[in-house]
Amino acid sequence: MKILVLGNGAREHAIITALLREDDLEIVCAGGNGGIARQVRVVDLDPVDGAAVAAFASDESFDLVVIGPEAPLVAGVADAVREAGVAVFGPSAAAARLEGSKSFAKRIMAEANVPTGAVTRVTTVEEADAAMDASGAPWVLKADGLAAGKGVIVTDDRDAALQHAQTYLAEGPILVEEFLEGPEVSLFFFADGESVVPLAPAQDFKRLRDGDEGPNTGGMGAYSPLPWLADRFGSEAAFVDEVRSTIAEPTIRQMAKEGTPFSGLLYCGLILTDAGIRVIEFNARFGDPETQVVLPRLVSPLSEAMFAAATGSLGSLPPLEFDSGAAVTVVLASEGYPEAPITGRYLAGFDGASGVEGITLIHAATKKDGYQWFATGGRVLNVVGQGATIADARARAYEALGHIDLQGGQYRTDIAERAGQ
Ligand code: AMP
Ligand code: GLY
Repeated sequence: MKILVLGNGAREHAIITALLREDDLEIVCAGGNGGIARQVRVVDLDPVDGAAVAAFASDESFDLVVIGPEAPLVAGVADAVREAGVAVFGPSAAAARLEGSKSFAKRIMAEANVPTGAVTRVTTVEEADAAMDASGAPWVLKADGLAAGKGVIVTDDRDAALQHAQTYLAEGPILVEEFLEGPEVSLFFFADGESVVPLAPAQDFKRLRDGDEGPNTGGMGAYSPLPWLADRFGSEAAFVDEVRSTIAEPTIRQMAKEGTPFSGLLYCGLILTDAGIRVIEFNARFGDPETQVVLPRLVSPLSEAMFAAATGSLGSLPPLEFDSGAAVTVVLASEGYPEAPITGRYLAGFDGASGVEGITLIHAATKKDGYQWFATGGRVLNVVGQGATIADARARAYEALGHIDLQGGQYRTDIAERAGQ
């Protein structure tokens, strides 16, 4: 099978790394980064230019196009590729609104009876103020549209909340949402418009600093599986079943009923409250960095699952198998991330890091110039450790990270610490 992967981050490097474990695949990446370029052919294509991507995919006879990030999905790149007659893993623009518009997602959830936080949609600072009076602290305010992970604030500081409201109201409506308390879980489903197939649960660490302090980021680390789910739900499988039957399936049915069937990857961002599981967000693509710990555990061929999702044949796909071992990833970010990352610094130590047993280096924003590596973005590198237990995987990830050199580089030291005890 000939596969074109669109995107340039760690998520796409993780997808490509998983695909490369299979035989007989030809993989090309549109976008790419230094790590991806070491493994596959990289081409320069504007990721949000649907016509260009579709023409390239059909001219070069690709069997499948995999769209990694949300921006091309929301821009309708999947529609253009599908119209050109090439199978595509990723929803149409209409279906990607599940991620692209939080008020659209809330409406779908309301119609489908999917449990989520109560919400008020506001268009002025006065309305935001009134909604905040009604909901009480802590306040949760969310930009309605895509905001590259920066649109959400959770705070006890009313002035900070109002400031956030003001900033994002300039771009469109915002949502004032009920505060939900409990551990967070990310659970992915392959979807083909009609049916869903779950992957393995993971947990993401969104805050910049240890102890969940500091600003929200795209994600500073993740691990899978989540052994503590068994204490609450009897088993991880029982949890996955509940999310499938009460969240993923009703959502997919509602999308189909409205004439906007969802195919690709449905990312369910969940909070496990004392009152039950609640959706905090849907995404229309693989999560980053969760993918870096879910896909290394996937034993079944990823290409078959993505092709089945793309072609409406998930119903005949055998159940996915996952390795019973653990994976932990720790993200290395540039100084100044997330507000103003300093880029262009030397990056060294890859050989030492990859020499640690069970380690895979997944690149997020790197470039190689001659013999020298450079950091080119905010999140730079994901060190992924695998082992029999979370404690083993975690120890390996941190040992490997100790070999990496990036001036001013930041990472959390507590990823998967509690789960590994
Ligand atoms: P999101 O971009 O929607 O994933 O939100 C970013 C982070 O804000 C989430 O990972 C949560 O930690 C937090 N968050 C979002 N919605 C809520 C909520 N309703 N209650 C509490 N925390 C939330
Ligand atoms: N890790 C959160 C996301 O991918 O949106």
